[in-house]
Amino acid sequence: MVHSIDLLRSRDTVRGSSSLAAARVILAPMQLTEGGSLYDRIGPEHLHTLLTRFYRHVAADPLLAPIFPGDWEVTRDKQFAFMSGFLGGPPLYHQRYGHPRLRARHLPFPVTPVRARAWLACMKAALDETPEIARADAAEYYAALTKVAAHMVNTEDEPTPV
Ligand code: HEM
Repeated sequence: MVHSIDLLRSRDTVRGSSSLAAARVILAPMQLTEGGSLYDRIGPEHLHTLLTRFYRHVAADPLLAPIFPGDWEVTRDKQFAFMSGFLGGPPLYHQRYGHPRLRARHLPFPVTPVRARAWLACMKAALDETPEIARADAAEYYAALTKVAAHMVNTEDEPTPV
């Protein structure tokens, strides 16, 4: 990845000097991630499609479905608002509901290690079904979610009856 500041230096070297105006253009959007944020790369339409597919899987999962309130559109829209800001796009969740306090908001729901894995499996399935999202972006997104999902775990697995 080439940082803007390096670009500026290399232009200086090649051309001998660069005008202040050119420097401003180069430095203005200090973009540190190649291709923009994950939000820019995925785009809101594909993110929305992904989350619709994701909650279809969650709704069909016997471990996950029972702990959700059941209005999947509301849940999907909240998640979309959160993901928008999380991925570097507009902070819609903050604007609508305030600080996410994600772990605290999950406390009423028993998020066990097994459920966290099931949640991630649903996301993996949804990403696999959404080839519109570039595979490298899907991998980056999934890796970020694995960390947050682990942080959401708030109770032990329920013992399986013997
Ligand atoms: C680890 C497994 C997880 C489980 C079992 C789980 C479960 C739930 C449940 C039951 C709700 C309530 C849905 C509703 O009120 O409509 C919820 C809400 C939410 N979850 Fe998760 N979640 C998990 C992981 C995550 C992760 C990894 C993220 C974000 C990266 C996330 C973000 C959210 C958000 C933004 C909400 C809406 C909060 C609100 O305003 O009420 N969840 N989740």
